[in-house]
Amino acid sequence: MILEGKRILLGVTGGIAIYKVVHLASRLTQGGAQVDVVMTEAATRFVAPMTFQAVTQRAVYVDPWQPIPDGEHARIAHVHLARSADLFIIAPATANTIARLAHGLADDLLSSIALSCAAPWLIAPAMESHMWASPATQANVAILRDRGVTFVGPVAGHLASGAKGVGRMVEPEEIMEAARALLGRNGPLAGRRVVITAGGTREPIDPVRYIGNRSSGKMGVALAQAARDLGADVVLIHGPLQVPVPWGVEARYAETAQAMYEATMAILPETDVLIGAAAVADFRPAEPAADKVKKEEAQELVIRLVRTPDILAEVGRRRRELGRPRVVVGFAAETRDLIAYAQEKLHAKNLDMVVANDISAPDAGFAVDTNRVTILRREREPEPWPLLSKDEVAERVMQEVVVLLRQTEGMDDG
Ligand code: PMT
Repeated sequence: MILEGKRILLGVTGGIAIYKVVHLASRLTQGGAQVDVVMTEAATRFVAPMTFQAVTQRAVYVDPWQPIPDGEHARIAHVHLARSADLFIIAPATANTIARLAHGLADDLLSSIALSCAAPWLIAPAMESHMWASPATQANVAILRDRGVTFVGPVAGHLASGAKGVGRMVEPEEIMEAARALLGRNGPLAGRRVVITAGGTREPIDPVRYIGNRSSGKMGVALAQAARDLGADVVLIHGPLQVPVPWGVEARYAETAQAMYEATMAILPETDVLIGAAAVADFRPAEPAADKVKKEEAQELVIRLVRTPDILAEVGRRRRELGRPRVVVGFAAETRDLIAYAQEKLHAKNLDMVVANDISAPDAGFAVDTNRVTILRREREPEPWPLLSKDEVAERVMQEVVVLLRQTEGMDDG
């Protein structure tokens, strides 16, 4: 959604990783962005401009003297392209291009555009590891970073030479993530700290066994992405996850309910919005065994369980004194009486909103990519949402959070 209607200038330079950038251009276009590709002469030796033209459905620029299409011949291509961009991505970026950008050369269309482009820059380098490690390249990267340029990668892996090392361009997915974050950085949550708990917890029985649950962390991670895309400074406090932590999100690992409780309380005074999407264990073994429990020693095993701290309930209590978090959102995962239990949580835990999911439905709740939720807010009727992807649920939840934040602060001002 963040890509919808955005103008992205994609500078492509001569490296073998260019084949991945065709996929990137296609993904950005499918996401609703208008992608204008500018290629260096060297880049055209790897892939023909026609390839990018086909995936973006737009003219591709190589020659600085080429007039721009649509009858706008009077405008100079590099000024027009640079001025209209919301984001300037350079991928793959060779050592040569990075050097030319750092020193302000303007000897081809791409470098000329760079000099006129005030949009945020995102660079995905790709080169041999010794070129990347060279003092000259590192100094050039430092110059660009000092000017506020964002770099993604390079990472370690197989290189064009057949060697292994750091120099490989990151995957298009990661460039997409960084692009989304940069496009959203002045969004309605800019300057706000949003803390999200995600994934399940593991309560140890002995050093090898634990009591856990089926949470994959997908819902919490989707919320983290959506908050980041609105400009928030996001901290993800998470147990084991089956999906990666999104780019630009600060992760803090908390394996047990107690660890998640401590991590959440520690950050509470600096938190504007807290969303509890984690499936936190309500009970833990009272006395985890120090050594592995041996089956030969008993015919049955009885484990005494004790309650874990209720993180959200404590947040709800403390916010009364702290005045923070300004907005607190909980989830409710139920197999029956969904709305009644969710209403109870809304009030008992002093929440602003509950996202209730009926986890008995096969297309909602744990591990799947979709969710069917009902939204509960104070003094409002429950609002059932249709079946949506977890990404869509997350975007809509964050839109509600923006409204709640404005309402809370409006009340404070008044
Ligand atoms: O991770 P996925 O596979 O994507 O699945 C998503 C999900 C189903 C885990 C998620 O959408 C969800 O519903 N999470 C909350 C699950 C849950 O534990 O619900 P609950 O009804 O037991 O808890 C209510 C709220 O209190 C939750 O916000 C929970 O994070 C919080 N809680 C619960 C227990 C506890 N000790 N501390 C808490 O803070």
